[in-house]
Amino acid sequence: MMESAKSKSDIALEASIPNGAAPLESILRTEELHRRAWRPPDYEKENRALVALVSALADSPGTILQTLAEKVLEVLPADSAGLSLLTKDEKRFYWAAIAGAWQPHIGGGTPRDFGPCGDVLDRNVSMLFTHWEQRYPYLRPATPLAEEGLLVPFYVNGKAVGTIWAIAHNDRRKFDAEDLRLLERLGRFASAAYQAVASIDDLKFQIAEREKAETAVRELATGLQSKVRCLVNSNIIGICIWDVEGRIIEANEAFLHIVGYGRGDLASGRLRWTELTPSEWREADEQALSELAANGICKPFEKEYFRKDGSRVPVLVGAALLEERRDEGVAFVLDLTERKRAEAQARESERRYHEAQMELAHANRVATMGQLTASIAHEVKQPIAATVSNAQAGLRWLIREPPDLEEVRQALACITKDGKRAGDVVGRIRDLIQKAPPRKDRFDLNGAIREVIELTRGEAVKNGVSAQTELTDNLPLMDGDRVQLQQVMLNLIINAVEAMSGLTEGPRELLISTGKAEMGGVLVTVRDSGPGLAPAGLERLFEAFYTTKPNGLGMGLSICRSIVEAHGGRLWASASAPRGATFQFTLPIDPARSP
Ligand SMILES: Nc1ncnc2c1ncn2[C@@H]1O[C@H](COP(=O)(O)OP(=O)(O)OP(=O)(O)O)[C@@H](O)[C@H]1O
Ligand SMILES: [Mg+2]
Repeated sequence: MMESAKSKSDIALEASIPNGAAPLESILRTEELHRRAWRPPDYEKENRALVALVSALADSPGTILQTLAEKVLEVLPADSAGLSLLTKDEKRFYWAAIAGAWQPHIGGGTPRDFGPCGDVLDRNVSMLFTHWEQRYPYLRPATPLAEEGLLVPFYVNGKAVGTIWAIAHNDRRKFDAEDLRLLERLGRFASAAYQAVASIDDLKFQIAEREKAETAVRELATGLQSKVRCLVNSNIIGICIWDVEGRIIEANEAFLHIVGYGRGDLASGRLRWTELTPSEWREADEQALSELAANGICKPFEKEYFRKDGSRVPVLVGAALLEERRDEGVAFVLDLTERKRAEAQARESERRYHEAQMELAHANRVATMGQLTASIAHEVKQPIAATVSNAQAGLRWLIREPPDLEEVRQALACITKDGKRAGDVVGRIRDLIQKAPPRKDRFDLNGAIREVIELTRGEAVKNGVSAQTELTDNLPLMDGDRVQLQQVMLNLIINAVEAMSGLTEGPRELLISTGKAEMGGVLVTVRDSGPGLAPAGLERLFEAFYTTKPNGLGMGLSICRSIVEAHGGRLWASASAPRGATFQFTLPIDPARSP
């Protein structure tokens, strides 16, 4: 039941009987107890011991077990006395209290299944041992050795959970029946005391826990209260207490400021949230009220209040019902005036930006057309000149004798055709130069491209460029702004012509093609045989104000890209083989209209 003071934490947990161990019966002397000379009880001493135990229980219940050990030592008397308790896992006994010679071994213990305490618990009887180290070798270092050891079971709530023991380290005296009676009596008392201590401890623990919880709740409550108070007083946010009848019972300065009322209005009870709410926001309020009834809180929502001066203030309102009163609630009100103003400003600046972009695009178009004036004038002049000569020819056929009316008819037909052609050219120029809001047309892309090619033909010819087209028939109709997309083509063609105009050798070829894009939609390609593009600067071309031309603005490609992207497409540049540049853009088409 014991091991040395030096190695008390190093307890041998032998569960099987080692070779050479003495049989249990050989070390038991229990039967002898009653045969030994019996001494009369000393009740006075015994009662003093019990009184000491009771006062220990009252004064310092934590040390009750140690007091018990001391009283056993004193009352029996014994050389060592103590208490062994089963550990929680029930694998060993733990020496919870020791008095006398073995006191230094306090905290040590023995295995549950192979030791004197285990034997006592197994048989559930008191036992007297002699030299137990003969059977339990781990007790050999537990000195002084035990001449006799008397053990009684120790119960808690009816269950044996340990032993109380007394040891005589020499044969100066032998334990007798009176020792057993005393030990059992003190043991029973100790059981009751231990139970009391345990339940007191338990109670104390419970009380401590409850106290802790209550403190936490109190702290939380005061913390919350002070936080809410802080919030109310800080006036960062409007706060009011309201009831379902429509009254505003309490409000902070911030709330009153938002709605433009004073403390007096609040005190008079005239302030009602139902009346502060314009009729078109009543539904939002109704919805919030039903949310509150269901969940106790409502999601923040936007609404407006009437100010005292009749104007309106946009607000964000969140609310919660009060815990103790289900017909009253608190509302948090945020003034959205500034935010709304900022939003309007943002919308306005976006609108202005868009407008500026449109202006810019228009300016770019006009400038490009300006560049083309000479060639366009030629385009217009040509049909007019043809008209004049056809009119002259017609006149000649008319003044003949007899007049050749068939020739006159043909001349007039030509005049009509040329006149229309000139009219068309002028019309296209007007479209491109005119400042018109963006439109959503449904148009034939190839037709729009052909018109641009016609407008730029003169410029191409002037610069020795031969333009070819490979326009795929039966493309679906496009949705978008026809003039804007023509502007894209105009810029790309003019850029290509300008790039090739500086060539000193090699052909000057421009190829414009349309077709289906791999990823769906339409692909338009403008390829030239000019000097080409530096691969590193491909993206720079599209930056605003990037230009390598003395008179260039550098806006052309940047405008082209924003037009294409506004139509849901993409514009990019690449090198042509064997030389030159390729600009391509895609435009989406409504899949429903794909042939
Ligand atoms: N086909 C091309 N071949 C070679 N370089 C080109 C070609 N197209 C554009 N670039 C280069 O890209 C630059 C930017 O073109 P962008 O059309 O944006 O402006 P720009 O033509 O210089 O001036 P503008 O505002 O008058 O159009 C050009 O200055 C030129 O250096
Ligand atoms: Mg350009």
